[in-house]
Amino acid sequence: AVDIRTLRAKTGMITYDPGFVNTGCCQSDVTYIDGEKGILRYRGYDINDLAEKCEFVDVAYLLVHGKLPSREQHDEFSTNMNYHSLLHEDMRHFFDAYPDHAHPMATLSAMAVSLSTFYPELEDATLQENIDYKVTRLLSKMRTAAAFAYKKSIGHPIVYPRPDLKYCENFINMMFRTPVNSYEVDPVVAKALNKLLILHADHEQNCSASVVKMVGSAGANLYASISAGICALWGPLHGGANQHVIEMLERIITEDKGDVKRVVARAKDKNDPFRLMGVGHRVYKSYDPRAKVAKTMCKDVLEALGVSDPLVDLAQELEDAVLADDYFVERNLYPNIDFYTGLTYRAMGIPTDMFTVMFAIGRIPGWIAQWLEMREDPHGRIGRPRQIYTGHTQRPVE
Ligand code: ACO
Repeated sequence: AVDIRTLRAKTGMITYDPGFVNTGCCQSDVTYIDGEKGILRYRGYDINDLAEKCEFVDVAYLLVHGKLPSREQHDEFSTNMNYHSLLHEDMRHFFDAYPDHAHPMATLSAMAVSLSTFYPELEDATLQENIDYKVTRLLSKMRTAAAFAYKKSIGHPIVYPRPDLKYCENFINMMFRTPVNSYEVDPVVAKALNKLLILHADHEQNCSASVVKMVGSAGANLYASISAGICALWGPLHGGANQHVIEMLERIITEDKGDVKRVVARAKDKNDPFRLMGVGHRVYKSYDPRAKVAKTMCKDVLEALGVSDPLVDLAQELEDAVLADDYFVERNLYPNIDFYTGLTYRAMGIPTDMFTVMFAIGRIPGWIAQWLEMREDPHGRIGRPRQIYTGHTQRPVE
């Protein structure tokens, strides 16, 4: 790789690379992707292995610390997670100020940056000082905030986190327990959530991670940086696609009367802005390895929960049509992670507008790991792309 800093200093050269398709912005030890072969590894561990054998909190620990936790480290990390699970009571009023129909990604982003007002000491501490304390506080409180946002949106009283429940179980309980039901967390749902959050946990220099790092490169605190990342993830071309996939499938049934060919034709029509949601990826030019895991688990979870969903068959029909169509084959467009995850969240009872929130909760460890790596990089500088100016030359005000 050419060191662009030296080049620029010597020649004043500016690379023009819209969308940063070929621009490397850092060196990183966190996540490895081979887009041609469909490989994804966190800290050297294959995503299939991690999804099969680990809990989400262990993968969070792995991303931040670079190694899987020992039994004692796992217990301590989980204890910290419980210790930090409550939101400051004053933060409860924030939820009341939003309209019931507020999108929970907006609320989540606001809650992330609001945490910095309650814990300003983060800015004074050295980066690695009490690192688990900071990480678990963010992870745990954001999960609580997400569940509170949901309860607020349906007009139900909030449910507080419980110290006897693990990370994923706690979230599910806060989502679905009410004062009038005797909800018990289904282990099938808890296992599925662990797996889904692991699939979301990091994906190197994607749009939201780049935003988190860009904001952090200016010296902004971790909460502010994560808040910005949540906003980026919300976009339909990024994590927001999981919500849009389900909405697209629903529209295929209601508006297109199940006519998959018509929808595929629209996606290929260059005069139509419509795109198949959950299809295509900047880096993967073969099947997204996360989508493979998500597809298998979707079928397993639905079967275990005894749920039958016509959208699953429709999704398969759409995938078959994509894989058999020259337009998609020539462009290496395959289902991505968002194609099947929403179907599983739906079977678990998670409402559609919470899908991207789930993605955000899963992605927080990756954002933190990359933010820390960026801040510790001795070559790190403020992120500041250049431009090719195409506007007016100087002109007088008349
Ligand atoms: N439907 C139809 N055509 C598509 C699609 C799609 N979903 N995705 C890409 N294409 C076409 C483009 O029109 C383009 O065609 P052209 O070469 O004839 O102009 C070609 O494939 C390349 O697409 P780009 O937009 O240049 O690819 P890019 O890497 O910039 O975008 C992206 C990647 C944003 C993911 C894109 O594939 C897309 O919009 N997909 C749908 C949204 C989605 O699922 N996003 C989630 C991605 S995963 C994640 O972020 C968590």
